[in-house]
Amino acid sequence: MGVWRVVRVLSQRLPLHSAACGRAISTKSRSRSFTETTALVYRSHGDPIQAVQLETLQLPALEAKSVLVKMLAAPINPSDINMIQGSYAILPDLPAVGGNEGVGQVLEVGSQVHMVKVGDWVIPRDAGLGTWRTAAVFSESDLVTVPSDISLISAATLGVNPCTAYRMLSDFENLVPGDTVIQNAANSGVGQAVIQIAAAKGVHTINVVRDRPDLQQLTDRLKAMGATYVIKEEALRKPEMKDIFKVCSRPKLALNGVGGKSATELLRIYRLVALW
Ligand SMILES: NC(=O)c1ccc[n+]([C@@H]2O[C@H](COP(=O)([O-])OP(=O)(O)OC[C@H]3O[C@@H](n4cnc5c(N)ncnc54)[C@H](OP(=O)(O)O)[C@@H]3O)[C@@H](O)[C@H]2O)c1
Repeated sequence: MGVWRVVRVLSQRLPLHSAACGRAISTKSRSRSFTETTALVYRSHGDPIQAVQLETLQLPALEAKSVLVKMLAAPINPSDINMIQGSYAILPDLPAVGGNEGVGQVLEVGSQVHMVKVGDWVIPRDAGLGTWRTAAVFSESDLVTVPSDISLISAATLGVNPCTAYRMLSDFENLVPGDTVIQNAANSGVGQAVIQIAAAKGVHTINVVRDRPDLQQLTDRLKAMGATYVIKEEALRKPEMKDIFKVCSRPKLALNGVGGKSATELLRIYRLVALW
């Protein structure tokens, strides 16, 4: 995932350290001095620029099955924006804290918490938790622990795009080494996860991106992740596509994250290759 997609929400006001310091945290260290959190809150749906405000909120008391978490990093995904706009299929009760994924570190646990412990890195189990805040008291059952020896950005962006990519690559076809997948929006968060998971399975990817001044740089970056081919949208209609299919097999899957003309072109190639 690109760094540009991640909003760091580490707060100077919370006296806890980096992941490496996890083991140094004790239940004594937190104390109930954490009574407040700074959060990006929306009280009505609308244009995110207008609707989202930075607010200071009181933290609720820690109950037996709840966990005090310091948020370390949280990304902005398209679905977060759609939720604020009110156009997403799942909408939280208002007022709501923005953000559906991110990683936090456990500062304190209630007396009946057994699945997480102080110092653990945790991510939301499901959407709607509200991750754009410096700290929160969550129910233990809303959290999943993740290893703390992966990068902060990987941990913060593990829950949505890589899982989506994994399911798309697993649920529709039984892909085996040597198979081919073609996708548009290949430089998106999901697209980058598709490239990496496919490469790990030995599956070729043909990756369609929009033209841009730094196309070569983007191509190099996606190829370093494991992309087999990176092509411009316009190339889908060029005869050189035949050369690609001398190397790659006919795609078993075509993944569309754009719609419209771009999706039509993917489908056209998918059908054409069978005739070549
Ligand atoms: N579980 C789910 O259902 C699920 C989960 C995650 C994501 N998604 C969906 O998957 C898609 C990608 O999400 P993401 O978070 O990975 O997105 P992202 O990182 O924000 O990237 C957006 C991508 O869309 C491309 N794009 C935007 N407008 C375009 C247009 N008019 N023509 C061609 N390409 C265009 C961008 O290309 P440029 O770089 O050229 O602008 C970029 O590659 C979204 O539709 C998202 O809602 C679904």
